[in-house]
Amino acid sequence: MRRTLRQALQALLAVTLVGAAAAGHAEDKKIVLGFAQVGAESAWRTANTVSVKSAAKDAGITLKFSDAQQKQENQIKAIRSYIAQKVDVIAFSPVVESGWEPVLEEAKRAHIPVVLTDRMIDAKDPSLYVTMIGSDFLEEGRRGGRWLEEHYKDDKGPINIVELQGTVGSAPANDRHAGLMEIIKNDPKFKVIASQSGDFTLAGGKQVMEAFAKTYGKQINVVYAHNDDMALGAIQAMEEAGMKPGKDVTVVSFDATKGGLQAAAAGKINVDVECSPLLGPQLMDTVKKIVAGEQVPHRIVTNETVFPMNVAAQVLPTRKY
Ligand code: AHR
Repeated sequence: MRRTLRQALQALLAVTLVGAAAAGHAEDKKIVLGFAQVGAESAWRTANTVSVKSAAKDAGITLKFSDAQQKQENQIKAIRSYIAQKVDVIAFSPVVESGWEPVLEEAKRAHIPVVLTDRMIDAKDPSLYVTMIGSDFLEEGRRGGRWLEEHYKDDKGPINIVELQGTVGSAPANDRHAGLMEIIKNDPKFKVIASQSGDFTLAGGKQVMEAFAKTYGKQINVVYAHNDDMALGAIQAMEEAGMKPGKDVTVVSFDATKGGLQAAAAGKINVDVECSPLLGPQLMDTVKKIVAGEQVPHRIVTNETVFPMNVAAQVLPTRKY
């Protein structure tokens, strides 16, 4: 009987020691995060990449990083490789909104949680991702539209808008367009006379604006550019065509990067709607919570504002991107 008791105590001690060692191991084990970035199309994106990489380092998270060069098939390949490597969490900024269900179902079957950053997807099943961290692009578009309404409130019009759209099918391009239309639809003096994608790049913005300037010339009252890189390209094109951006053509832009705010301070962008790329720290906190089994909200919206040209110079000295 005494022997049985001793054996039982020994067995209990062994189980406790193994348990303690396992817990210690779990604490020591570094979290591995696979991050599939869109590309390097803009100053915003470069700042976003820096934010993700440095926040991972600060948080002690092992980061596997890939750049999809703005191609959905490259992002899908990267996500599949993270699934094969059995990373703890996958995060990605989806280049376009549609077409993600098959790969996200694969991640779900492998029990790997997925976090969306920056851009949303249009999947019907919300359980395909744990959370989405990023801006409200629709609201950004409304902000641009409301600023235009206020700016032209005493003008009878017509106000002809040319739109430089971001990447076709991407959430910011879809939503910044929809937000503008929602605001101006009830005021017939505003007319979008042309709309074309410049793929969020400076070269794309310049090329599209050159064509708009040739076709519409002095009819253009407003350039509505979906990001600063395209706005900066459009400014170059307008100046080369003898137009005065910020004066005889009103320029509305998005992101409020240093380059955008410099152009605003120089009087060439009339309003820059903020979109923050500094999502790294929030992403790493969220990843840690998910791995620890804590609940996180299904949507985490970034706080942002609007910078009209008269405040741009004050903001510049503290601008991080
Ligand atoms: O998804 C965010 C957008 O993508 C930014 O506005 C743009 O600059 C970037 O390329």
